Amino acid sequence: MWTLCSLESFASPRFLDLSGAALAADKRRLGDRYTGVQWVVADVTKWQPSQTYDLWHDRAAFHFLTDHADQSAYVDRLKLAVKSEGYVVIGTFAPDGPERCSGLPILRHDADTLAPILGSDFVLIDTRRQDHATPWGVVQRFQFSTFRRAQRDGFAVTVKEETPNIQSSAVGCCSFRRRRVSGLVQKITSSGTWAV
Ligand SMILES: C[S@@+](CC[C@H](N)C(=O)[O-])C[C@H]1O[C@@H](n2cnc3c(N)ncnc32)[C@H](O)[C@@H]1O
Repeated sequence: MWTLCSLESFASPRFLDLSGAALAADKRRLGDRYTGVQWVVADVTKWQPSQTYDLWHDRAAFHFLTDHADQSAYVDRLKLAVKSEGYVVIGTFAPDGPERCSGLPILRHDADTLAPILGSDFVLIDTRRQDHATPWGVVQRFQFSTFRRAQRDGFAVTVKEETPNIQSSAVGCCSFRRRRVSGLVQKITSSGTWAV
């Protein structure tokens, strides 16, 4: 779940999941502390975003897309949803992570497999690994890769802090209240929250 402080710092956050039950659980956890989230029950490969966003964050959804057509449809959604110079964070099980997630087959990834799928519109700016300890005592090896949507003139960005471990609906999108490239980087803390 994105933290409350993070939600208040971002404009128009949307949480998307195929499962209404997953979204309802997130909504319960959030309670009435923040009412600005829009909850979207949709297949991310078919979603028609009504606006564009500065940030797309996916933790453990993309790896369920095991065929090329679904991956390609996902990238089409990214192109519709993410602004020029916007950020895309994709967290999946790493190549040495589990072969199944929630009992379903998945494809494990790293930056080398994700980058060609996303294509030249999205430039890899950071990748890192994370060992996630589950409540049932198992370590799941994740990778989080961060891409930036290219603009014509090009850019150079260095991410120095931790990629966040946001546990929420499958995909979260939002806009920044203040547009500061370095700001995003600075606000990703080692505790894994978008502390603003
Ligand atoms: C392993 S859970 C991860 C949930 C959360 N992001 C987290 O990190 O704890 C994967 C979620 O992806 C959702 N999902 C799988 N395929 C999807 C798709 N095509 N479109 C939208 N959501 C999808 C599932 O419903 C499930 O809630």
